[in-house]
Amino acid sequence: MTDKLTAKNILIEKAKIDSAVDSIASCIERDYKDKIPLLIGILKGSFVFLSDLARRLPLDIEIDFVKVASYGSGTCSSGQAKLLHDTSIDVSGRDVIVVEDIVDTGITTSFVCDYMKNRGAGTVRLCTLLNKPSRRQVDVKIDYEGITVPDKFIVGYGLDCAEKYRNLPAIYFIDEEKK
Ligand code: IMP
Ligand code: MG
Repeated sequence: MTDKLTAKNILIEKAKIDSAVDSIASCIERDYKDKIPLLIGILKGSFVFLSDLARRLPLDIEIDFVKVASYGSGTCSSGQAKLLHDTSIDVSGRDVIVVEDIVDTGITTSFVCDYMKNRGAGTVRLCTLLNKPSRRQVDVKIDYEGITVPDKFIVGYGLDCAEKYRNLPAIYFIDEEKK
């Protein structure tokens, strides 16, 4: 499975991911002490980060998911976002935290945050493990972020390349010629 990825392709080791998740969890714990935030993960990429983050939050939280199409199975953004799967929990009046694996162009997260506001969420904040600011097309405000990454296509810890590698515990970059 990892034939295309070797140790030299490692970009972020598991220990560094863990400490980024710890810091984000501490900030969320501080900010939502007397609240019951609704964490909304964007499928599929956020599932690993969301599950680690949720287990570090000593708060009452609720969890739901949306699925958005904005990226094909390759590595090129289609430039638009469309809702494929909605939450089952009513978001109106709720303190929503949108949880994403990576903010790249910003198209997906700005779409989801706007969607939550339009659906009547009380507050909406954005939390992402990774930020790739070099490729931003839409200005999106990130409230909680872990690690800034360079303009490389990366996989692991939920992120895929044509649906593979999501289960890798660390984050690797893919060589352009091996994509
Ligand atoms: P956006 O370009 O900010 O809308 O990001 C859309 C989606 O593209 C993210 O949720 C990720 O799932 C995916 N994505 C962006 N950059 C990468 C990458 O380097 N590797 C894998 N997936 C990525
Ligand atoms: Mg994603």
